[in-house]
Amino acid sequence: MKHLLSVDDLGAEGIEHVCSLADHFTEVSQRPIPKVPALRGKTVVMLFFENSTRTRLSFEVAAKRLSADVMGFSIASSSVQKGESLRDTVATISAMGAHAMVVRHRSAGVPAQVAKWCDASVVNAGDGTHEHPTQALLDCYTIKERLGTVAGKHIVILGDIKHSRVARSGIKAFTALGAKVTLVAPATLLPPAVESWPVEVSMDIDTVLGDCDVVYGLRVQLERQGEALLPSLREYSAHWGLTVGRAKRLPTGALVMHPGPVNRGVEIAPEVLDWPNATVNEQVRHGVSVRMAVLYLLLHVDTDKPVL
Ligand code: NCD
Repeated sequence: MKHLLSVDDLGAEGIEHVCSLADHFTEVSQRPIPKVPALRGKTVVMLFFENSTRTRLSFEVAAKRLSADVMGFSIASSSVQKGESLRDTVATISAMGAHAMVVRHRSAGVPAQVAKWCDASVVNAGDGTHEHPTQALLDCYTIKERLGTVAGKHIVILGDIKHSRVARSGIKAFTALGAKVTLVAPATLLPPAVESWPVEVSMDIDTVLGDCDVVYGLRVQLERQGEALLPSLREYSAHWGLTVGRAKRLPTGALVMHPGPVNRGVEIAPEVLDWPNATVNEQVRHGVSVRMAVLYLLLHVDTDKPVL
């Protein structure tokens, strides 16, 4: 595999493979010196045209734990501010010898375009409302760690699905592994052609939450709301938020997941985030292992030989 642009590039087998490789890297991260030489001599560039805390930092940590060199790129202090085009920016970075580019952009399709413009392996770290494949991988890994398997689980995705690349990639990955997915959202925050997605849709949050293995809350993406799709955040929270009252009615052992950043008190009550079944920080930790696995798969020359 040369690039990871979509969950479709992996399929069920690829997702399972990444998860089992991630297990090895979780072990590496627990060592006193959490570093292996697997990607020594490789250069990984972080090309983030949109804000990020966890995705960017965890890719950086992942690359460093594999002994790759990391080049950071901050739009605010780059020549993009002087009007340099995306294509010229990519060509400039390529000329310095990048082996992988981790790309985030507010427009769908940019990572695929970058992959056509350079020889490096490209990882999609979130493109507009399109996809965020490594988030789906770390979510599958978290569910497997906690519940043993993704197959047969009922995963409820709650909230701003319309604007969510996390939901689009998650739905592909969860259903590929055999989970049942139900979307719960106000009609204005559902995507247009949702009938053609491999999911069920419900407006009845309280019934659905009583019968699920995972409730996956999504951030209300205020920066992507072009029009007034919500009455007010307070009203949204009352109708569609995972309040303490609702969370108490979840089946025992059901996980509360969220990709972060959380609008505390809007999509999930702050108290619920502290419950033992809430996995927000665990997802972040697993993100490092999963991203190590992805970079390793894309960049390591001889995948048959043990490296650890
Ligand atoms: C998400 C993103 O940027 O797509 N965050 C993340 O990568 N963990 C979700 C979000 O911003 O709501």
